[in-house]
Amino acid sequence: MTFENFDRRRVNLPLEEQKNLEWAFNEARRFAEAPKDWIVFLGFNGCGKTHLAAAIGNYQLQKGRPVFFKVVPDLLDYLRATFSPDSTVTYDEYFDKVRNAPLLILDDFGEQASTPWAQEKLYQVINYRYNAQLPTVITTCLALEDIETRIGSRLADNSMSSNVNIMAPDYRSDFAPSEEGKQQARRLRRRR
Ligand SMILES: Nc1ncnc2c1ncn2[C@@H]1O[C@H](COP(=O)(O)OP(=O)(O)OP(=O)(O)O)[C@@H](O)[C@H]1O
Ligand SMILES: [Mg+2]
Repeated sequence: MTFENFDRRRVNLPLEEQKNLEWAFNEARRFAEAPKDWIVFLGFNGCGKTHLAAAIGNYQLQKGRPVFFKVVPDLLDYLRATFSPDSTVTYDEYFDKVRNAPLLILDDFGEQASTPWAQEKLYQVINYRYNAQLPTVITTCLALEDIETRIGSRLADNSMSSNVNIMAPDYRSDFAPSEEGKQQARRLRRRR
């Protein structure tokens, strides 16, 4: 997932959505050039949030800069796993690595099980990076008001965080088979 293979026009979309997508792409590019503060991608499933977040990460890697990309539910699993006696890394080491990553990308925020422990850990990461003003990319399917208030209000603070609301519908459905295609597939199956 790179900027090069992101279709920022999606010609089949209404003009307003095309313009919005181009704007989202430009915001991601701008952030990738010089990561500063936070960028939060919001929108429905499949609109391109992870793609743009990963493109930012890949751009950084190309430039030889470090990136820490984690899907939030996986991040919490890793963190829990550090408590196991055979873990090679301690909880403190891992938590510190996440909190202090020069660029942290948190994908699928809000998809995690909301246990009090998980909520607390995420709040600690977010609050730490907010206070230290560390560059962070977040993607979420949730509206900010549906995220726990302590976290949601930090994500919504526009002195720190650019909110990029993507209006485009699911990209995956652009490739859903047409009625004609489905009929052809049925005919082929019958012949076999
Ligand atoms: N504008 C685009 N151009 C090219 N590929 C795209 C575009 N938008 C989305 N895709 C592709 O469609 C798939 C879904 O996109 P992506 O994973 O970025 O969606 P998402 O918004 O993160 O969805 P979810 O909320 O389900 O995680 C991916 O394979 C992605 O590469
Ligand atoms: Mg995603």
